[in-house]
Amino acid sequence: MIGRAPGKLIVLGEHSVVYGHRAIAAAVSRGTTVTLEPCAGPTCLGRAPIRDDRLMQAIRAVVPDHGLRVHIDTDLPVGRGMGSSASLSIALLRAVAALRDERPDFRTLHAQGFELERIFHGNPSGLDHAVAALGGALVYRRQEPPTPVTMASLQAVVLDTGVAGDTAALVAGVASRRPAIDGALDRLGELVERALPVLSDPPALGALFNEAHAALRQIGVSTDTLDQLVELALCNGAVGAKLSGAGGGGVVLALTPEGPEALLRAAQRRGIAAFACSLPPSAAPEP
Ligand code: PMV
Repeated sequence: MIGRAPGKLIVLGEHSVVYGHRAIAAAVSRGTTVTLEPCAGPTCLGRAPIRDDRLMQAIRAVVPDHGLRVHIDTDLPVGRGMGSSASLSIALLRAVAALRDERPDFRTLHAQGFELERIFHGNPSGLDHAVAALGGALVYRRQEPPTPVTMASLQAVVLDTGVAGDTAALVAGVASRRPAIDGALDRLGELVERALPVLSDPPALGALFNEAHAALRQIGVSTDTLDQLVELALCNGAVGAKLSGAGGGGVVLALTPEGPEALLRAAQRRGIAAFACSLPPSAAPEP
């Protein structure tokens, strides 16, 4: 039995979403596949990118305790704000549902996914597993259910700093710099509203990405490496680039409507981990 779910990237609105503004997130054409294979004896873990207690706890919470080997394959970088644990949680739930010949609806997956995400994150925002369960692109505001938005599938390149950002510490750092940075936080919120009508227009969206990255620098969540990756993207064919997620590390999202090749080559020459993806994926999301 197989279950799949995508990872996510925040398109615009990270940090300002904490202060009541809206944000946009989208699924990416990378994700996690969980395969349940029959075996004798107690259920056990087969292939997996990580082996830790939280993963075993999540498996014990939803997989029957006998007769299955759980394989996990993912092409998402772990710990970079791309929703790898939510993607795993939803893929696991889909694989277990397939065992029973069931196809859970969004509400069921979202509720069960939240319980699994709590094992990995303690107090998750709910966004990552909403995107993993729904696919496509979403607009969301804190304390409100996310709303799907229509967006053409964009060609993008993700550039990886190789470093995990500490989301809780970065959010606390932003809070400590207020009210001096409130103007930049409001600007980040306004950029989301300006982006909604141009989500399928890469040059227009890219210009807003560049403004957003400048504002994210002002609120103190960028790093020299993130700034250099944005610069590299803009010098190699991207029409816009910004850090995506909490910052302090993590990834840069670059829009490359003319194709990813030039930027991928430039990244490779410098030994920077990078990959092309579509945002959101052009294929229909999982049911
Ligand atoms: O690191 P990520 O991709 O989970 O994003 C965090 C986004 C923040 O706005 C910084 C925090 C939040 O809870 O929304």
